Amino acid sequence: MDNSLKDKVLDAIDIVELIGERVTLTRKGKDFVGLCPFHPDHRPSLSVSATKRIFKCWSCGAGGDAIRFVEKIERVDFPTALRMLAARAGIHSEPTGDDARARQQRDELLATLAWAREHFRRNLASPSGAKAREYALGRGLTPETIERYCLGLALDAWDGLLSAARQKGVRAESLVNAGLVVTNDSGRTYDRFRNRLIFPIFDPSGRTIAFGGRALGDDPAKYLNSPETALFSKSRVLYGLNLARDAIQTQRSVVVVEGYMDAVLLAQFGFQSVVATLGTALTDAHANTLARLADIIFLCFDSDEAGLRAADRAAEVALLTRTQVRVVALEGCKDPADCVVAGGREAFERQLNRAVDALEFKWSKALTAFGQGDQRGRRAAIEEFVRFVAGIVVAGRADPLQQNLLVGRLGDLLGVPAEEIFDLLAKEKGLLRRRAASATATSSAVVSDYEATIRGLPAGLATAMEAVFGLLVCGPGNWRWVDETVARGAERSETWQRLYRLLLEVHADVGEYSLGDIVARCEDGALCELVSRARARGAGLPSDGDTFRAARDRLASELDVLRVSDLRDDLRRSGGEDEAAFRALQASARAAAGSLSAERAMARITPV
Ligand code: UTP
Ligand code: MN
Repeated sequence: MDNSLKDKVLDAIDIVELIGERVTLTRKGKDFVGLCPFHPDHRPSLSVSATKRIFKCWSCGAGGDAIRFVEKIERVDFPTALRMLAARAGIHSEPTGDDARARQQRDELLATLAWAREHFRRNLASPSGAKAREYALGRGLTPETIERYCLGLALDAWDGLLSAARQKGVRAESLVNAGLVVTNDSGRTYDRFRNRLIFPIFDPSGRTIAFGGRALGDDPAKYLNSPETALFSKSRVLYGLNLARDAIQTQRSVVVVEGYMDAVLLAQFGFQSVVATLGTALTDAHANTLARLADIIFLCFDSDEAGLRAADRAAEVALLTRTQVRVVALEGCKDPADCVVAGGREAFERQLNRAVDALEFKWSKALTAFGQGDQRGRRAAIEEFVRFVAGIVVAGRADPLQQNLLVGRLGDLLGVPAEEIFDLLAKEKGLLRRRAASATATSSAVVSDYEATIRGLPAGLATAMEAVFGLLVCGPGNWRWVDETVARGAERSETWQRLYRLLLEVHADVGEYSLGDIVARCEDGALCELVSRARARGAGLPSDGDTFRAARDRLASELDVLRVSDLRDDLRRSGGEDEAAFRALQASARAAAGSLSAERAMARITPV
């Protein structure tokens, strides 16, 4: 294998970030710990070392480097895992010439951005920056804050930056690459940022990767950001994180706002653990980054925007990251900057104290919508909530482990047994997937996907098979009574076969699995529906040999009935002369009679 590529990839990948996207990691001394994704873990037994770049589970023994982690979690082989990580790190497996050039381009980009930041900063401090300074001070910013955030000024000119660059020998092409200069249709180049207060955007390690600029004149675009570059992605970057990181980690909480001004002013008023999205909703990438640093995320919305949409997103983040998310819907002020400038630190503290847990908020909204108190309303609210979760799951945003965890939390929140939530979730997942499938399919199927896979089979057989599945789904202990009858039954329908294999797999992987382990692995509507039906048949039945054997025997006799009718068909087709078929028919009937009472077996066999 290409060892240099392997080393390069391992060098480039931040293992804490990689694993942190799958598992909520919390810092413990030098290392990070979390729930192991490779076995059912209740106490965090997974440990990730950023310095040694390895992970290790003290409970199940899984461990290794980042590549090993991907191999295991994605169930891929080594070369595939290596490729995936190389792509993630932007490393090409081809010759090193490209790498060197890419690195060179990156360095030039960084140098250009750093130079531009200094240029803007000097502008603001210069005599031509007088009006902009006045504006900044008028917004409540102190000179210290302006310095701390390296605020700057883009002059009111088409070529402020361009001509300075020319003097300094900075290539126009690198200004274009950095998004600082725009080329119009006729090939003329000019500054992107003009007459704007500049907010440099830093990466977590403090390198300038982009700029935001607030209009000082009457430009209709109040804020303008750098375009996306190799270094800057709006959906990933959190403004202010470089300065707030330590405070966030110490306090284990973070306040997320929407605007540059909000982040800067809150920090100035003593709220050190504040970051801003660049006017966008919190993305999964944002949420994962923050969840690694904090246990509580305060999401702050401008008063006009606070509402269902924002709260839904907040609830999603809470469910997906397992952090506590609290929604701050501002009251009596336009935005956090406004609040703190007008009312001081206490005013914003009051807003934070009013914050409500995002999940509880969503739950109480659902309850109100369906009429509180009444049992049926409550039921509908639960279903509504589970539908919301199913949407997240079906969108592929929660892996099996996350699904398990979030169902547990939902159960606690809604006061409903987790079993019941799983059941509802299975139904909703099935429904959503079916809807998605039928939206693309042309045939207007009246039967469900699952029903289509058992069409033509005797109803009695389906009932028997579903009952056996039900006992297995609800009680992993029942595996000890399983014999080849179950496998034989499963062969009769594609969906049965898939569930049978899935159960075998979960049993091998997890041992004492829960319904959740199964539901989490159900990939399509047919499987979900079968699990749901099975559970309905198996729920509440004892996990003992007698119960299981009774169900299994019933399945055996149903299968024999089916074989007999298969054979009888064959016999008919061959004109009743087929001796071998006739003997087989007799043998089958005898077998059937042996596992059922003879009388019942005959009764079943006789009618065609
Ligand atoms: P706001 O419109 O809330 O800005 O946008 P603001 O905080 O009130 O601005 P001030 O207080 O008048 O200076 C919040 C964020 O949305 C992004 C910016 O990142 C801004 O900080 N935004 C807003 C844009 O990118 N473009 C815009 O035109 C407006
Ligand atoms: Mn504002």
